[in-house]
Amino acid sequence: MAELFAEYKTLIVFLHVMSAVVWVGGMIAMRYAAHPSFMEIESGKEKLERVTHALKRLFTIVFPFTIILVATAVVMLIGYDLKSTEYAQYGYIKEGIWSVMFVNFIVMISRRNRAAKLLVEGDVAGAKFSMALVGKYMIPVNIALGVIAIFLGSSLSSVL
Ligand code: HEM
Repeated sequence: MAELFAEYKTLIVFLHVMSAVVWVGGMIAMRYAAHPSFMEIESGKEKLERVTHALKRLFTIVFPFTIILVATAVVMLIGYDLKSTEYAQYGYIKEGIWSVMFVNFIVMISRRNRAAKLLVEGDVAGAKFSMALVGKYMIPVNIALGVIAIFLGSSLSSVL
């Protein structure tokens, strides 16, 4: 693994950074650009249909990048032998952040799927309830954690 990292370092770091860009950037664009625009739609049902549709597309794009992010992280952990350096705690914190972000992401997918199903059944209030936490807290929490992970990554990249 260490040899693999030495040979493909640029590619591995590129894939790691690209995954963070898609995951964190995608959520920022959805929450702070697309979401306010969807909120202008008057019909509650249509509003929720647009939000659940856009989120399905975003989550489908993001999912493979969450896996690439952690796979490249593992290669870098071994390649840099990070756990035996004085920066080991950065690695532990980033692992913790990825885990919380990923669990949060999976819960968001399941809430979105539930909301889409309720909309098909005509239960607009139920769908609204299922989506409320996603926009209000879950996406912003993942954005904040992602920004912290990027800052820690920048700190690591300047010392490794
Ligand atoms: C899963 C645990 C993680 C580990 C072990 C890890 C490890 C690292 C390491 C060692 C670097 C330095 C690479 C280099 O410059 O050679 C780095 C950079 C970076 N990481 Fe992570 N990372 C993890 C999770 C994350 C997460 C969750 C994000 C964002 C969502 C992220 C975003 C970044 C970014 C953007 C950089 C590049 C910073 C720069 O080049 O200035 N990482 N990471």
